[in-house]
Amino acid sequence: MKRHLLEAADLDRDDATLVLDTAAQIESALTGREVKKLPTLRGRTVVNLFFEDSTRTRISFELAAKRLSADVINFSAKGSSVSKGESLKDTALTLEAMGSDAIVVRHSASGAPHRLAQWVKGSVVNAGDGTHEHPTQALLDCFTMRRRLGRVEGLKVTIVGDVLHSRVARSNVLLLHTLGADVTLVAPPTLLPVGVEAWPTAVSYDIDAVLPKSDVVMMLRVQRERMNASCFPTEREYSRRYGLDAKRMAVLPEHAIVMHPGPMNRGMEIAPEVADSVRSTIVEQVTNGVSARMAVLYLLLGGTGSQQSASKENNS
Ligand code: CP
Repeated sequence: MKRHLLEAADLDRDDATLVLDTAAQIESALTGREVKKLPTLRGRTVVNLFFEDSTRTRISFELAAKRLSADVINFSAKGSSVSKGESLKDTALTLEAMGSDAIVVRHSASGAPHRLAQWVKGSVVNAGDGTHEHPTQALLDCFTMRRRLGRVEGLKVTIVGDVLHSRVARSNVLLLHTLGADVTLVAPPTLLPVGVEAWPTAVSYDIDAVLPKSDVVMMLRVQRERMNASCFPTEREYSRRYGLDAKRMAVLPEHAIVMHPGPMNRGMEIAPEVADSVRSTIVEQVTNGVSARMAVLYLLLGGTGSQQSASKENNS
């Protein structure tokens, strides 16, 4: 593993498999324990540096670090000296001066974690930067596919919706390709990025043609807050052309699963009866996020031999 996890491309196939295997080992090490904690990162400090709102990722990283017995500092830009004009660099150096070993950062600016990684000595983990990447979301998504379908390699994964603004889609396309899945993007042309032809995916504008061949359908949130102009005529029209409702879900193969990274626009990209159906892994993804993030922190901060110690703790 590299020192930082800034984007899905930081993980080659062996690294990604190691993270997923480690997440599974950690999960089984904690199953049935009254106290859901491992001593692995005792004495280490993890800072959650969030400049943009988050529910799942922030709490998940906090829980992951605490379950590994690390000390955790939660920093949110609101209420900090950022409001007095303090820069990202000075904020990071201040936190490092207080002894942080890893910084988990979410920022509205694409590339912010990369800049941070140039300034600090510890590890940096990208928890979502602008419209760029969200690598731990892709890891937890692949972990969920493996749990539900037994593998990632060879799966036909359809990613539907606002690809243009989606860091989740970018990270998933890369990681799924690394792990040997077959990815198709479905979106209106206005919600596909320039240069998508160079991505390792197929592209379709017709969700109904792709669904019957999909093992996994990953619905993306329509990110209205990032849209400067109207990318589709009306919400109703978007929903009619690209939304996943019960009728569309019925044409999926019997084993297929429905994913969404959250937060959802219920009734727009996904109908409530689909989000709450037995095929939906949305809540499971949140649970799996803690194991996947524990694995990332463990491998970045625990150093070599981490996996062997996970196995030992698992067996003890
Ligand atoms: N999936 C995801 O990143 O959710 P949050 O914005 O709530 O962290």
